[in-house]
Parts: sequence; C-alpha cells; structure tokens
Amino acid sequence: MYELRCIECRERYAPEEIIFTCKKCNGLLEVWMNLSEIEVKREELEKRMFGVWRYREFLPVGKKTKIITLQEGGTPLYKAENLSKELGVELYIKNEGANPTGSFKDRGMTLGVTKAIELKAKAVGCASTGNTSASLAAYAAKAGIKCFVLLPAGKIALGKLAQAILHGAVVIGIRGNFDVALKLIREASQKFNIYLLNSINPWRLEGQKTEAYEIIDQLVFEAPDRVVVPVGNCGNISAIWKGFKEFYEYGFINELPIMTGIQAEKASPVVKAFKEGKDKISPIEKPETIATAIRIGKPVNAPKALRAIRESRGYAESCTDEEIIEAQKLLARKEGIGVEPASATSIAGVIKLIDEGIIDKGERVVCITTGHALKDPEIVFSRYEKPIEIEPDIEALSSIITK
Ligand code: F0G
Repeated sequence: MYELRCIECRERYAPEEIIFTCKKCNGLLEVWMNLSEIEVKREELEKRMFGVWRYREFLPVGKKTKIITLQEGGTPLYKAENLSKELGVELYIKNEGANPTGSFKDRGMTLGVTKAIELKAKAVGCASTGNTSASLAAYAAKAGIKCFVLLPAGKIALGKLAQAILHGAVVIGIRGNFDVALKLIREASQKFNIYLLNSINPWRLEGQKTEAYEIIDQLVFEAPDRVVVPVGNCGNISAIWKGFKEFYEYGFINELPIMTGIQAEKASPVVKAFKEGKDKISPIEKPETIATAIRIGKPVNAPKALRAIRESRGYAESCTDEEIIEAQKLLARKEGIGVEPASATSIAGVIKLIDEGIIDKGERVVCITTGHALKDPEIVFSRYEKPIEIEPDIEALSSIITK
C-alpha cells in the first residue's frame, strides 16, 4: 500500500490523483510506503539483476503494471584509492553517469514514465537544465508517448541538448533561466494535460531513492558515514535520504549516513538558508555557474533538501567554478572517472569540508557523481589544455615526446 502525503500538513492523497502540491497548504508531496507490508529478504534481492527494479517491492507501482525500463541503475561504486590516500578519507564514487542516458535522472524516469502510462497520460513534459530532458526524451520514446521539453536557451550543455533532439522530444528553448522554464511548464502541464516529470513529481523521486538502496547493497548492507550530493532543484538529495531512511526502518541497516549537499557558489540558496538556520530559501534571481546542470536559483524541493540535511545532522557548502573544475580534473586524472562539472561539486565539496574540519579523517564518504563527462565536452575544450597539432614527421613528434 502506498499513497501521497503532504510533507507539511500530512494531508493524504490517493495514488490515482494527478497532483503535485497539497491542495490545503500548497506543501510538497511525498510518497508514503507501508513498509510493514513488504516481505523480502536480502538473499532474495541479491539473486535479482542489479538495478532500480531489484527493489521492486519498495517501489510504488501496481503489481500488474508494465514497467518502462532501459535497465537503469546498477551503477558502479568505485573505491577511489588514489584520492583516498591523498585526502585521508575512505572515498567512494557512486557513478551515476553510467546510467543509460548518462545521468541519475534515468532512475526517476523509469518510475515516472511508468506512472505516466499507468495514469493514462497522453504526453509528458519537463523544464530542464539538460539531463532531465535527455532522460525524459529517451523514456518517452521507449513508452511511445509525446514529449515536450523546455530548456533555458543557450545554457544547455551540448551533449544533453543533442540527446533530447536525438530521442525525438519537442525541444523548446526559453529566453530565461531554468526557474522561469519550470514555472512555464507547470502552467502548461495543467492547461494542456501534459504529465509533468520534474522532481516536483513525487513518483519520480521514488525511482531516485534507489541510489541509496544500491549504495547499501554495494557496501554489503552497511551505511557509509556520509553521502555527498550535488544540489540543484533539491530532488535528488531528498530522494536519497528517503531511500536510506526506508532501508533503516525496514531493518536492512542499523545506522544512517550524514547527508551533505553541495552547490555552486553563485547558485547556492540552500547553502545560504542552511548556514543562516532558516527553513525557507531566499531565491537567487540570476544564478550563474559553469556547472549549468545546477544553475538554479529557486529550487522547488528546497524544503525537502533542508529537512534531509538537518534530520541527518548533515551540512551544506558551496564551491567556486574554479574549485569545481579542479575537482573534475582530479577525479578524471587520479581515478579515471569522467564526470560533468555539476557532478564534480561533490568532490570539490569533500576537499573543502576536509579543510574546514567538517569531514573527519578516516570517514567513509560516498560522493554521488550525477552525470557523465561527455554531457558537456565544451567545458573541456574551454578550460583544459589544447590538443597539440604537428606535421606528420618523426622529428616534430620526437620534439614533443622528449620534451
Ligand atoms: N547533477 C546533475 C548532473 C544534474 O543534472 C542535476 C539536476 C543535479 C546534479 C541536481 O539534482 O536538481 O535533484 O538537486 N538537473 C536537473 C535537470 C535540474 O533539469 O536536468 P537536483
């Protein structure tokens, strides 16, 4: 049994209702699962394919529902041995770039698009900084359903834009930022009966909570000390926290990790609210960062993220664009893991929090790297060394090799 509940006033809504905020108090909604009805043993889970649907009992879909899947999840958890030595912590990387469309969004979309079909939607839509649209376009294609995506014109990393076009979404550039695009698609979704698949959709976040389930699975049913997550619209950190809490409540783990959210300095309303001890963010009208995925000034799920951080006795910090690029480079060159800039904020955050004394030596830390390096090749061309071009002769080549 499952239903929707308002996180503020606890009002309950039936799962068949298409609703994104509470009718009574306008609060955010979350899915409530009756865990006491679930009966599944760890050994049973371990027999199944590793990925989102390994945890089917914990996911709110009907028993007979046809699942729209591209075999998402099941991403590697790397032990970052070189960086662990350098930083003095036990560092793991949960590499969500290894999902079918190259980001964690696929976990949400398998659930969200499955739900859209269950609810008999004729079209789906989202606003996006890029990854949500790439993912939704692919899952809508698989489901055979029309897809509209609204993107901040000129501010989308090339790979992501290419994916949305490739998978046949109707791609619409908005002369404004993500926050403006989200407002517009929310209005359009009501007017034109488009099923909204931004992270304000509580079903989508249920898919993303499997990031936590998988980390537990990969650490042999132990929780890490800390999980560090790049934060934009605030859906993912809340989803991951919900996943940990559910496995804790179900009895799969005895401890909960500390959640740590990282934002880009000039797009960090959550960090500001956290540090000032506030429950509400003050929106940033003109967010700016090279990490375009998290260039967000009015995150709709901020109340959920602030709760996740506070409940877990966590922390929030921001990093500059320079720190983000340095972290991206470090991960790529010390561990062989290529991630897009927004993902590298988690590594930049760890480095900073070790310096600040927030992260203790020896802590077991999992960084979520949210999207693949190839999403944003332009950043590499503009911020890294240029390739060398030479005449095709051995002299020219040897001058470089022996330099
Ligand atoms: N990292 C990447 C690579 C993202 O694409 C996003 C969000 C985040 C982190 C932040 O996650 O919003 O749940 O806090 N991208 C959205 C999009 C906004 O449209 O693709 P969040």
